[in-house]
Amino acid sequence: MSSIAISTPRATEAAGTTLHADANATYATALERSALLDGLIDAHAANDPARFRMLTGDRPTGPLHIGHYLASLRNRVRLQDKGAETFVVIADYQVITDRDSVGELGANVRGLVLDYLAAGLDPARTTIFTHSAVPALGQLMLPFLSLVTDAELRRNPTVKDELALSDGRPLSGLLLTYPVHQAADILFCHSRIVPVGRDQLPHLEQTRAIARRFNTRYAAGQSVFPEPEALLSDVPLLLGTDGSKMSKSKGNVINLRDTADETAARVRAARTDSQRRITFDPTGRPAVANLLTIAGLFLEEAPESVADRVGDGGARVLKQVLTEAVNESLAGHRARRAELARDPAHLASVLHDGNARANEVAERTLATVRAVMGMSY
Ligand code: TRP
Repeated sequence: MSSIAISTPRATEAAGTTLHADANATYATALERSALLDGLIDAHAANDPARFRMLTGDRPTGPLHIGHYLASLRNRVRLQDKGAETFVVIADYQVITDRDSVGELGANVRGLVLDYLAAGLDPARTTIFTHSAVPALGQLMLPFLSLVTDAELRRNPTVKDELALSDGRPLSGLLLTYPVHQAADILFCHSRIVPVGRDQLPHLEQTRAIARRFNTRYAAGQSVFPEPEALLSDVPLLLGTDGSKMSKSKGNVINLRDTADETAARVRAARTDSQRRITFDPTGRPAVANLLTIAGLFLEEAPESVADRVGDGGARVLKQVLTEAVNESLAGHRARRAELARDPAHLASVLHDGNARANEVAERTLATVRAVMGMSY
């Protein structure tokens, strides 16, 4: 099935005038399109892996938690297993977009690799690499920077949010321009599909604009870079155990690497409400609804049905059900993670091989870029 067009050409825009225009409309379109893409992946990825090449990534700022697992990691494994060629970038240069130091970078990077492997990402099929090991990414950024305007960079709503949350730091050159570096992550391997959360949609739009403009301005209309598409997960926004945004610093998350006892303690401390009977009511009882949603996702059961089962058992039984759901679902993951952690040489070799493969692909792309730009000397 080489004829499936998975990229929807949209009207070309005058540079910088339409990017980041209407976030809600973009989100609704991306959700619809994601459902469609998911069907295409199901039907065709196994026969045509390159056409469904996928890249996504994480910032190594701390341990992965159950929100990452449910909304993203589990889905990556599913897509890999359907046959899509998969790349995962550990975005170490993005750690310093909005903070002053890299923190426990080495430990965080190794922690991510452990969770990837424990979850079922297979380094024979999925290329796991770090920004810092692939110099060609930085070099691709230069022509890409020439294709974006200062105005569209400043309008990027995700960058604005990150700036607002960065404790009064001034806007650094890296925070302003990292969406262009991220475009290099996505385009260097000609990925078509980018599984991401809603907050990353502005970066995808920027990436698509860069691909289009590169092809038009520097490649005489040849499709050097196909326009990638976002693949949004259908998992609803999950909150921390206190009912607010999941955040390491608030201590309201359950990490994948936590023990069963740590998980039980975190759930025991979770916020509920004073109504005895458990019902699923996201607007009226958001904290309870969030716990039901998380339990339902682990149990592959609708949150309403978890609520029915708990019924008059109240918060105590709800917490028991949730603790068991998390601990039983993650038991295998945690055991594999602990086992893998005992073999640091294997971890190092996974990253080493992934970095080598990413470098090979990135060098080839950079050579094409230089050639079409007349820079082959
Ligand atoms: N910015 C992403 C995040 O904060 C991580 C990331 C880096 C990424 N490069 C990427 C995601 C490329 C998708 C594609 O989660």
